[in-house]
Parts: sequence; structure tokens; C-alpha cells
Amino acid sequence: MNYDVIVIGAGPGGYVAAIRCAQLGLKTACIEKSKTLGGTCLNVGCIPSKALLHSSERYWDTQKHLSEQGILVDGVRLDFLQMMRRKETIISGFTQGIEGLFKKNKVEWIQGEAHLKGGYFVEVAGQTFESRFFILATGSASIGLPFLPFDEKRVLSSTGALALKEVPQKLLIIGAGVIGVELGSVYQRLGSEVQFIEFLDRICPGFDLALSKGLQKSLTNQGMVFHLSHKVIKAEIGAAISLTAQGEGKTSVFTADAVLVAIGRKPYSANLGLEIAGIQTTPKGFVAIDASFRTSQPHVFAIGDLVEGPMLAHKASEEGIAVAELIGGHCPTLDYFSIPGVAYTHPEAASVGLTEEEIKTRGISYKSALFPMKANSRARCIGEEEGFVKILADAATHRLLGVHILAANASELIAEATLALKERFTADQLAETCHAHPTLSEAIKEAALALFKEPIHL
Ligand code: FAD
Ligand code: NAI
Repeated sequence: MNYDVIVIGAGPGGYVAAIRCAQLGLKTACIEKSKTLGGTCLNVGCIPSKALLHSSERYWDTQKHLSEQGILVDGVRLDFLQMMRRKETIISGFTQGIEGLFKKNKVEWIQGEAHLKGGYFVEVAGQTFESRFFILATGSASIGLPFLPFDEKRVLSSTGALALKEVPQKLLIIGAGVIGVELGSVYQRLGSEVQFIEFLDRICPGFDLALSKGLQKSLTNQGMVFHLSHKVIKAEIGAAISLTAQGEGKTSVFTADAVLVAIGRKPYSANLGLEIAGIQTTPKGFVAIDASFRTSQPHVFAIGDLVEGPMLAHKASEEGIAVAELIGGHCPTLDYFSIPGVAYTHPEAASVGLTEEEIKTRGISYKSALFPMKANSRARCIGEEEGFVKILADAATHRLLGVHILAANASELIAEATLALKERFTADQLAETCHAHPTLSEAIKEAALALFKEPIHL
């Protein structure tokens, strides 16, 4: 055998799995076909989108909100290409960082596309490698619309939208999910007119309904326009792009300079050789695994976006660590109940545990409480009064079932709730925890108090 473990794909699932395998003393290689490590997350996903969200928020905030604090800034201008260059520098810093981590941990990077050959063999550029175990982590790809093929200049997937050369005057976004609202926020702040065409009657369908509605209200106040319950049926691409959609009992035509198709992602396993290797997939095309991440071939594991579950970088990484520990002879546990999800909009939307709709479907008897950020002193000091903390708990046991936050820094606030859910805390334990004053996190304590006692500041 050449290796103990070969990992295929160096996204946040694969590269983390490879490093952990090597740390556990396993001879490890990672096959990655791209020129850089880090996968979707580092190259065309989490990191570039968050860099642009930050820059665009600074630009927007400077223009719109500093004067109310007595700070007068004249002549604010946008250097969009510099904003993009900064994003590229951040990406290359991270991708090179992973190369460094591979060297430090003695993970060998085999550059090229992996083709499974069955049994213990994989081929890369005509060379065959043998390994005791394989971890498949080839991730996901954007879903397109058949009548609107991506050209990544005017018909964009998220990858194209993260690499534009100029800010489009009018941007249409098909799909008001997480990618849509994040990238829509970027371009709305930079001056685009942003309109969404969404199939469902709500935005961000994975979130608790109160969070979706609150977020939609905030984004609408920022100027974004949502056409919900609309279905695009035709596209014409000429000097402008024109989309015909049906909704609200009528047919409407929308025009734009660019269109972002953000209707979800699908597992990616092109040319991987799943069939040759005898690896089964689910009806939706994900690689089928058991509770130990094993595929239908017991020495082949699969993780991340390639398998069912939330398509999130931290979920992929946790699975990568768990599989490495399993191969290394340990007994890891992974708690899917406490995986947080965040939309990095303004305000941010963050969620962990069950939504109210899921709790109702399961027939659990529950209590819900909501504490508005405008009653939180820190939020008022920093001018971030939009949003709320909503907590759901079991009516009988008081055990926490879900926490949903719409607030500035919700992405950081959700960590406390995640720990509380992972440890199966009750709302009372959260309410009895001392929180520093003044902090946004006091809103979590107050919402927890509101569940079975009474909030102090409401
Ligand atoms: P990937 O990151 O997709 O990596 C798979 C790797 O496998 C790729 O590098 C690919 O080149 C390689 N590969 C594929 N086939 C082969 C082959 N045959 N041989 C060799 N290599 C191969 N998630 C979050 O948690 N937070 C966020 O803020 C966030 N923002 C996002 C923003 C955008 C615009 C997008 C598109 C996604 C975002 N995500 C976010 C989702 C996140 O990027 C994914 O969930 C995550 O990258 C999945 O990790 P993975 O390791 O499973 O796969
Ligand atoms: P999504 O599943 O979040 O949203 C897709 C949206 O498109 C849904 O609202 C859906 O109803 C709508 N839709 C589907 N088909 C449609 C059609 N034909 N016409 C109009 N609307 C349609 O998927 P999205 O936004 O593409 O993101 C993909 C994945 O990437 C997500 O699963 C998410 O987990 C991950 N991601 C995570 C981020 C984060 O954690 N901050 C940021 C960006 C992406």
C-alpha cells in the first residue's frame, strides 16, 4: 500500500480530514484537482463572500450611517477593483496557509483529478495509487436553469458574482436563499438595483419563519425588492437580459444587466468513478453513507456537501475530523442537532436547533419567547437596534429546542446558544448565566428569562 488514507478533495471537509488523519499517525495523501487547496469555501464561497460583505458594509455604512453619529465624511468613492483585489489577497493567504499546514503535518498533495478504479486503487493523470482507506470529499456545484446557461459574465453562478469587473446597474437574483441574500446585499450596498425572483412564498426557507420574515423586512428597507411565489419560465439574452416569470396570477417581465442564479447546489462527483468503485448514491444524487460515514464500500468514507445534510463548511470539517478519528481507531460523536447556520447579511441571521415549524411538525409541546434588540442597551449604543433573539424550549422539561437570532453579530452570538444546545441545557440554565453588561448577548439571557419567568428589560 502507498498510503493508509487518501482523501479526494481539499475543501473544508477534505483538507481538515487529511490533516487530522496525519496527526493521528496515518500516512495520508490528499488529491485535489484545482491549482489551489481549500475547495469551494476558500476559493469561491465562504471566504470571498465574507470579504466582499465586509467591504461593502463599510462602504454603505460610511455613506449612510456615520452622519447620525456626528461623523461627516465627504467624497466617499468606490474602487471596486481594489475591493476585489483585497478579496483575492485574502483567498491566496488562506490557500497558501493550507499548503503550509499540509507540509507541517506531512500530508502529501497529489495535484490532479482522481478517478476511482475500484478496490483500493485510484488513478490521477495516468498514475495509480493504492490506499487502505479513502475519504471522498468532492463537494458540490451550483444548480443552473436549462434555459439560462451560466456564462459567468452576465448569467452568473455565485462564482461569477464573486469575480465581476464592474457593479451591475440592475441585478436580478433567481432564488432568495442564503447565497442570494448575501450576494444581493453586497451589490445593493455597492449601488446595484437588486430584485429577487423566488419560487416559494418566503425567503431563506431553511430558517425559522420569524427569522425569514424579519430578514426580508430589513433587506426590503435597504432597497432590495422581493417577488415571492414567482417562477421564471423564459429568458432572453440581448443587450439586456429579460426574464419572464409567472406569479400572483399574472405574467411579468423583468430586465437587468446581470442575473445571478442561486437556486441551490448539488453534490459533485463528475468523473470520480463512483459506479466503477461500486459506490451507491441516494435518489437525490448524494453519496449514500451509514451513521459512520461509510459508503457501500466499507473502506470508502464520504463527507461534506457530497453527502446529505446542511451544505456548510463547518459541518464538512466536523465530519472530516470524525472520519479521521474513526479510521484512527477512536469513537467520535457528531451532534447534528447543534450545527449552527448563518446568513451574513445586515443584520445577520443565525440559527441553531429546531425551527418553530419543525417543532410543530414533531408534535412537541413547546414555549417560545422573543426579545427585541431595541430593548438591549448595547444595541442602542452601537446603532444596531434591528432584530431579535427568539428561543424555543420544551414546555415540560424547559430543555432548549432552538435559538434564532436576527441581530448585528448574530454569527458570533449563536456560539453561546450552540454550546447550550449541544450540552442539552435548559432555558433556565441560560437565564441564570451572568452576561457582561452592556453586551448584545444579554438579549439571549433576557429571551431565556422571558420563556419561563419574566424578562427584566421589557
Ligand atoms: P468543497 O469545498 O466543494 O471542496 C471539494 C473539493 O474537491 C474542490 O476543491 C474540488 O476541486 C475537489 N474535487 C472535486 N472532484 C475532484 C476529483 N475527482 N479529484 C480531485 N479533486 C476533486 N458555508 C458556510 O459554512 N459558511 C459560509 O459562509 C458559506 N458561504 C458560502 C458562500 C458561497 C458563495 C458558496 C457557494 C458556498 C458557501 N458555503 C458556506 C458552503 C461551503 O462552501 C460548502 O459547504 C463547503 O465548501 C463544502 O465543503 P466540502 O469539503 O464538502 O467541498
Ligand atoms: P438555498 O437552498 O439556500 O436557496 C435556494 C433558493 O432558491 C430557495 O429559496 C429556493 O426556494 C429557491 N429556488 C429554487 N428553485 C428556484 C427556481 N426555479 N426559481 C426561483 N427560486 C428557486 O441555496 P443557495 O442560496 O443557492 O445556497 C446553496 C448552499 O450554499 C446552501 O445550502 C447553503 O447552505 C450554502 N451557503 C451557505 C452560506 C452560509 O452559511 N452563510 C452562504 C452561501 C451558501
